[in-house]
Amino acid sequence: MKKGFFFFLIPVLFAFVYKPGNGHQVIYDQGGNAIQKKIICENGAVVSAHPLASKVGLAILKMGGNAVDAAIAIQLALAVVYPNAGNIGGGGFMVARLSNGKQVTIDYREMAPGKAYKDMYLDEKGNPIVEKSLSGHLASGIPGTIAGLFESMKYAKLSFNKLIQPAIDLAEKGFILNDREAKTFNSLKAEFTKYNTVTPVFVNSAGWKAGDTLIQKDLAETLKRIKKDGAKGFYEGQTAKLIVEEMQRGKGIITAEDLKSYKPIVREPHIFKYKGYTIVGMPMPSSGGLLIHQMMKMIENRPLASYGFESPEAVQLMVEVERRAYADRAQFMGDADFIKVPVKQLSSDEYLKKRMEDYVPGKAGNSLLVKPGDIPQHESEETTHLCVVDKNGNAVSVTTTLNNSFGSKTIVAGAGFILNDEMDDFSVKPGSPNLYGAIGGEANSIKAGKRMLSSMTPTIILKNNKPFIIVGTPGGTTIPTSVFQTIVNIIEFNMSTEDAVWKPKFHHQWLPDNVNIEKGFPDATKKVLEAMGYKTVERGGIGRTEVIKVLPNGKFEAVADNRGDDSAEGW
Ligand code: GLY
Repeated sequence: MKKGFFFFLIPVLFAFVYKPGNGHQVIYDQGGNAIQKKIICENGAVVSAHPLASKVGLAILKMGGNAVDAAIAIQLALAVVYPNAGNIGGGGFMVARLSNGKQVTIDYREMAPGKAYKDMYLDEKGNPIVEKSLSGHLASGIPGTIAGLFESMKYAKLSFNKLIQPAIDLAEKGFILNDREAKTFNSLKAEFTKYNTVTPVFVNSAGWKAGDTLIQKDLAETLKRIKKDGAKGFYEGQTAKLIVEEMQRGKGIITAEDLKSYKPIVREPHIFKYKGYTIVGMPMPSSGGLLIHQMMKMIENRPLASYGFESPEAVQLMVEVERRAYADRAQFMGDADFIKVPVKQLSSDEYLKKRMEDYVPGKAGNSLLVKPGDIPQHESEETTHLCVVDKNGNAVSVTTTLNNSFGSKTIVAGAGFILNDEMDDFSVKPGSPNLYGAIGGEANSIKAGKRMLSSMTPTIILKNNKPFIIVGTPGGTTIPTSVFQTIVNIIEFNMSTEDAVWKPKFHHQWLPDNVNIEKGFPDATKKVLEAMGYKTVERGGIGRTEVIKVLPNGKFEAVADNRGDDSAEGW
């Protein structure tokens, strides 16, 4: 088995055959990894943010694992090869549609520690101390990923030992960095030094370069403890001790009791119908399922397809539904275990019809209200999404996160993994913007044991009661708009899956009152929008959307975003 995975570590420059006409599109990074942007296959498919993690998923499927097995193994592999967002020190959500017709949604979102309180990130004048919720020890919520993976194991076929072994091998034997990865680590050297009590493995005093091998011995040992002791190998014993010691050295507040008491939650999925499709998403504390519901329903009875993709009419309509949904997010959404979220009212046809009464085609809406500070948009490396489907009809959509890229930048000394900075997803000060410039209200204020509101939107769309589209993306608050646009591109504009994913996206989130557009967004449309009164702001890549679509002949078409090293595999 171990030997079988060793080939992952060897440059595989010529290992893949390009098959024109079979939908395969392969490129290679400087680390020698085959990055496959699209594949059509019939026995199973996976797509994730890193080629090595996708290969792990494929190997698990070929070994007889189902889509849940593969999703678990991919998440563990991503924690090694994609530490920007892959994690065991963060949290996530899984949406699955099982072959028996059951839908499962697992919430393993981080939780505010027992010592957390509402104003913990405010100075004596009541102003947010932005750094405190974003970087360093105090920024972390109690990690949920490992608990979530063991909850997911209820739906898996293989042993956990088999699923974690590839991640252990990748951590222990190392993997080859490409140019992008080497540059990323080098660019973060100062932050990794500042926010750690012990110099982490990601700091190389001579500087990393493409072709170097990153070995993570401490992380391998942590993964071995999890392999041996299950979730207790993380939440108790040596790993928990190392986390608590790290917290004490860095004035963090996560305690042994916090770790021991963390529980994943199996929730009722957020499901709605759209023109004959059934859309299955994540409920609170993810805003994703409800936002997609609101946005889709606000366009359902309008002739969007006839306007045409990227036409000013279509973009304006979509921007205005995004504005309205995000205004509701700021006001009403948060952890429904702590506050009442009026999900039914916010998604009722009557409410959404009324919500669009002040929509004027050809004229920009206005978000008014409190003017937030102009927070720069961060690049969207943070958070990561993966999709898996198997030949028996199991489909899995998982989004998992450390929040910011490399989370809090704090690595647990001796345990080798990065802690999240998910506390910034709370409304640190209701009315003030978070990392993504998004405003939150009291509904999402900090409280011990509460889960911070998320934008993660793992989604599965059913057609004729069978999986049709599995989709999701990273990107902070741009996540729901990217998923919305990808779905609309496929269902309404009838676009190819790769165009639906790869073409430029745009984003409006109520406040700040701007339309963010990606490079490549058509200039003519931009000019018409500006003439309508919109302020457009060009920004870097929006999201890294992964999609698997089930074709009419039953084959799987997996498409990886071309905004990063994302890669699709299948057989
Ligand atoms: N940290 C990004 C999200 O959960 O929305």
